Amino acid sequence: MEDKRVKTVKIGLLGLGTVGGGVYKLIERQKKEMVNKTGANVEIVKILVHNMNKKREGVDPSLLTDKWEDIITNDEIDIIVEVMGGIEPAKTMIKEALKAGKSVVTANKDLLAEYGEELLELAKKNHVDLMFEASVAGGIPIMRPLRKCLLGNEITQVMGIVNGTTNYILTKMFEKNMSFEEALAKATELGYAEADPTADIEGLDAGRKVAIMASSAFRSKVVFDDVYIEGITKITSSDIQYAKSFDSVIKLIGVAKNTESGIEVCVYPMFVSLDHPLASVRNSFNAVMVHGDAVDDVMFYGRGAGEFPTASAVVGDILDVARNVVWGSTGRAVNTCYRDTPVKQFEDIENKFVIRMQVDNKPGVLAAISSVFGDHKVSIRKVLQNIISDEIAEIVIGTDEVKEKYMKNALDLIVNLSVVKEISSVIREY
Ligand code: NAP
Ligand code: HSE
Repeated sequence: MEDKRVKTVKIGLLGLGTVGGGVYKLIERQKKEMVNKTGANVEIVKILVHNMNKKREGVDPSLLTDKWEDIITNDEIDIIVEVMGGIEPAKTMIKEALKAGKSVVTANKDLLAEYGEELLELAKKNHVDLMFEASVAGGIPIMRPLRKCLLGNEITQVMGIVNGTTNYILTKMFEKNMSFEEALAKATELGYAEADPTADIEGLDAGRKVAIMASSAFRSKVVFDDVYIEGITKITSSDIQYAKSFDSVIKLIGVAKNTESGIEVCVYPMFVSLDHPLASVRNSFNAVMVHGDAVDDVMFYGRGAGEFPTASAVVGDILDVARNVVWGSTGRAVNTCYRDTPVKQFEDIENKFVIRMQVDNKPGVLAAISSVFGDHKVSIRKVLQNIISDEIAEIVIGTDEVKEKYMKNALDLIVNLSVVKEISSVIREY
């Protein structure tokens, strides 16, 4: 018999692609457990899609609509779940939903990395929830720990692998000698890549996630534009081979640090030593390491992309909000960005580097290069040389930590030395 005291919390789902499809199936799968878990029945009552003619297996067609107003203005709907992606029209839809007194769950990092603070303020003003666990690192619970469990800490660093597509590509290039293109096609087929995979391979997706994590961890607004970003498109099989010979792997690493001179936020490929925990994070898996003054180091590891891992994070948020709806306790969020810490200029950030270059195979070349480095505060830590031909040698130079601006100035001169044929790659080392 139906328990009349149990409320049915109604959901409007915006998007039914990889993530939306997973959310729909997971809510169906969890149906019987909902009441015990949240004190409510959770029911998807409307789904917004773009193409009404697409075949959607297992989904009741009467739930589908291509008119978003049907969902946002529906007074029966308590929670809007946005899993469409992109800035517009998602931003307008979310704002209208919040203004209409509906809580919102979203996986949309593009939106949060630019307008997160504005949307959180709007949610607070309207006494509703805005949750976004799935926006960073797919199925890994990281936003809730940063925003709740670790609140007792002064967090000084958040870093790790936060893009499943690029980690999958780099793993396949490293372990299977797969070409970049072949590995990207496979990652797209598996549903890891964004609608436009440029966002993945150029590091933009990871940059958005780092901005979202930094804002929450350091309690100060950090937006996408603040993040210095390099992607993985320039990584070649030669770089991968050198990584192997240095007992390292190459990973796309996002680093956010809260230093005395400001916040550092960067994403770039890095050599990571095989004995570092991030080196064993393979395929579409992600991992985030957080350093707090009380907790010391904590590491979060799991699947960073894909249908069910991401749906796991979205449904966790939905059930959390549903519980708040039942208890009338939505909108308890406080302003998480109450500080105004400056973001550091990229040129002042310090890194170790590995530089690969093609040079004339003749006396005095190394001396000429190391003299330029010496003049620019760059200290050489290791050098490896491969003779390519009688005329050409390939040298790989590993440096100690040096400010980005000094390295740039040195390389601007080295590239113009007559004995240097080409600087083939400049990769940072963790
Ligand atoms: P997707 O497979 O491309 O699905 C997008 C869905 O939204 C489709 O159902 C599409 O409709 C619908 N849609 C898009 N624009 C629309 C519009 N203007 N009006 C109506 N419907 C629209 O994308 P996804 O991979 O599920 O990603 C969704 C979101 O989750 C993105 O923000 C993404 O960054 C985030 N995310 C994805 C993953 C992942 O592993 N894929 C992981 C974490 C976070 P049609 O079906 O009719 O085309
Ligand atoms: N395209 C993203 C990735 C999806 O590859 O990590 C998860 O945010």
